Amino acid sequence: MINLPWTQKYKPKNLKEFINQKEALDIFLKWIKEWKQGKALIFYGPSGTGKTALIQAYAQEKNLEFIEMNASDFRSATKIQQILGQSMLQTPLFKKGKMFLIDEIDGIAGREDFGGVGAVIKIVKESRFPIILTANNPYDTRLRSLRQHCQLLQFRKIPIIDIEKRLKKICAEEKIKTDEEVLRQLAKISKGDLRAAINDLESIAQGKNRISLKDLEILGYREKEVSIFDTLKVIFKTQTALAAKLAIGNVDKDPDEIFWWIENNIANEYENPEEIAKAFDMLSKADLFRRRVASRQNWRLKGYMIDLMTAGVAKSKKEMYRKFTKYRYPSKLIVLGRTKFERKEEKEKLLEFSKQLHCSTRKIRKEFLPFFKIISKAK
Ligand SMILES: Nc1ncnc2c1ncn2[C@@H]1O[C@H](COP(=O)(O)OP(=O)(O)OP(=O)(O)O)[C@@H](O)[C@H]1O
Ligand SMILES: [Mg+2]
Repeated sequence: MINLPWTQKYKPKNLKEFINQKEALDIFLKWIKEWKQGKALIFYGPSGTGKTALIQAYAQEKNLEFIEMNASDFRSATKIQQILGQSMLQTPLFKKGKMFLIDEIDGIAGREDFGGVGAVIKIVKESRFPIILTANNPYDTRLRSLRQHCQLLQFRKIPIIDIEKRLKKICAEEKIKTDEEVLRQLAKISKGDLRAAINDLESIAQGKNRISLKDLEILGYREKEVSIFDTLKVIFKTQTALAAKLAIGNVDKDPDEIFWWIENNIANEYENPEEIAKAFDMLSKADLFRRRVASRQNWRLKGYMIDLMTAGVAKSKKEMYRKFTKYRYPSKLIVLGRTKFERKEEKEKLLEFSKQLHCSTRKIRKEFLPFFKIISKAK
């Protein structure tokens, strides 16, 4: 059996399987019932919410021939007309009727070489079968004349709860075990785009028969953000290098800041002098990389810095300290925080000087600044 992508495999085969979009569905059904030649429908709304799926499901249910194309794929409307030409006029041999879908009509609206909107209107007028168009922005002024022949139909984002249900059903069919929380998160991440949710599910479920919250990480998703104190607790208490390293991934602070948190709390947690010395040794090596990252803008080195300050510090102890440690705010950050404003001003001044004196801000800070200060005071 061919492996269809899940969005295809689980697309609705009839209107009963088409979920949500109740309002759009009702309008669509009413429109199709009253359809007369020369009239078209314009679908618009967010991606992955069932615009194409609705027509496919309807056509399948009613045994209609369904012909779909994307307007942007064609160089001219004449080309579309050539392709649709006969088909728009002839009754189908084996089916009960036909239905056309032309996607992204606004992609061609402004292109006069394409024949512009006029050519699209001609197609709408000539077709003996209903034509549905989709537009990213149906209110585009260039579509004004086309709108006179069309009814607009808006699709909305699919509610999280419905996406969750759909994912649950797919998991059941694919025999994948999972917690509701995983599906809820997937649904949330998708922001109402069912296609995206199904694709995400398929990508994390690949080759597995069970998925957990952890698997969502490959989508760039983080479990609930933890506080810096929890992160420190993992680094200081764990015995495994990997756990220490991953601990900083869940906190909303950058490694440079976490560095100072660790520095300020080593002696707070560890009691054995040897362990303290070893942990500081790791940290000093991490510091070397930290400076190199800054001076050479070499971001690859950041990995070494992180390994040393997390796994290195974690593995400096022989055993876990079974005690509660109250981790302290790093004093260095308190000072930096207070002088942040002054430092910013200073940096701007240094940059100004560096332009005038043709040398680095570092050189200015070290070799010129002390004298400038004396001079300005003397004045
Ligand atoms: N309302 C829905 N009911 C059931 N399945 C849906 C629905 N909406 C989307 N899907 C699923 O998502 C897939 C993509 O949906 P569809 O192709 O209809 O998106 P679209 O609205 O046409 O998006 P685009 O604007 O990107 O073309 C479908 O194949 C189907 O599996
Ligand atoms: Mg579509």
